Amino acid sequence: MPIAPLLTSSPGKLPLADYKPLSNDELSRRIDAGRQKLGKRLLILGHHYQQDEVIDHADLRGDSYQLSEQAASSTECRTIIFCGVHFMAETADILANRPEKIAERDGATVKVILPDMAAGCSMADMAAIRQVENAWQQLGEVIDTQQMIPVTYINSAASLKAFCGKHGGIVCTSSNAAAVIRWAFERGQRVFFFPDQHLGRNTALKMGITNAQMPVWDPYAEEMGGNSEQQIIDSRVVLWKGHCSVHQMFRPEHVQQFRNRIPDIKILVHPECPQEVNDIADLSGSTSMILKTVQQSPPGSKWAIGTELHLVNRLKKQHPEQEIHFLSPVVCMCATMYRIDLAHLCWSIENLLEGEVVNHIEVDPETAKYSLIALKRMLEVK
Ligand code: 13P
Ligand code: SF4
Repeated sequence: MPIAPLLTSSPGKLPLADYKPLSNDELSRRIDAGRQKLGKRLLILGHHYQQDEVIDHADLRGDSYQLSEQAASSTECRTIIFCGVHFMAETADILANRPEKIAERDGATVKVILPDMAAGCSMADMAAIRQVENAWQQLGEVIDTQQMIPVTYINSAASLKAFCGKHGGIVCTSSNAAAVIRWAFERGQRVFFFPDQHLGRNTALKMGITNAQMPVWDPYAEEMGGNSEQQIIDSRVVLWKGHCSVHQMFRPEHVQQFRNRIPDIKILVHPECPQEVNDIADLSGSTSMILKTVQQSPPGSKWAIGTELHLVNRLKKQHPEQEIHFLSPVVCMCATMYRIDLAHLCWSIENLLEGEVVNHIEVDPETAKYSLIALKRMLEVK
């Protein structure tokens, strides 16, 4: 695995260590007080996988796509505290600070804060820009990469989004992957999809592309990502060998165990799950699709859901009229998202009140410029 850049937290005027011993009640009270003082200048965004205590403080919550839209349309705020992971905060910085938005605010920028710099994404770390560039160059030795469209899942570093922006490519999320891949095939003969092989494969299979047409590119293989030249020539989609450490834990035997135990249960999974699980599930879709499916189901519906634990537990609490189970017998939670706790949130807010922006996520202008091209294409795809 590539070594992720070392992201260190800023010290802040008020030290984080002072917040660690405080109770959740005390932290919540101080977070509310701080937010009142900051008013509309502060916007707190939270991803659905966030723990309850934290997401309760979010002004807006959403999946990756909705959070991008929310960051893109923010008007009054001058600071966004992003209760999510690093790539989401980068995306918010790029979208909230695009040139037309800065002009609308008479030159004022928005500072994006990630409360804990250790909140990364193991999937995003599986594709480093130099590896993607190296793969692109090798692919160019056997196929015409002018006819290949790079598609990066939003769960990736800004440098990969910039790569897509520079090479006629686009960003996708789990809620628009099919539309984005269709967009790509309107512009080229092949797609290079990174970093999540499962989302790429599960989406492309539904579009009639076969596994034989989807070689997997292993960035650690000596040559051609571990593929023969013929496999690359015959490809429609080249998939990066990356995955989500949370969703890869769901297995076909978990599905079978539930079906044996509760015959009328429906299996609902996220497309980051492996193909073996996705294929036998009743339904597969993004976080917002999973939420909507449960919200719109009648009382008595029975679900085993294969996605992040905090979201499934929240759905269980919100829908006692339905029978909701977590698909895996073992804990599958996003440990990095879980790094964001009330202590970090309170520390970020109170430093802000002292005029100190801690853990400021700022994408360099060149990367932001090209990432924005790929992100705008995504936001325009319907
Ligand atoms: P969505 O929010 O697009 O469903 O993606 C899930 C995820 O893994 C977020 O990191
Ligand atoms: Fe990354 Fe998976 Fe966590 Fe999403 S759930 S942030 S893909 S590790």
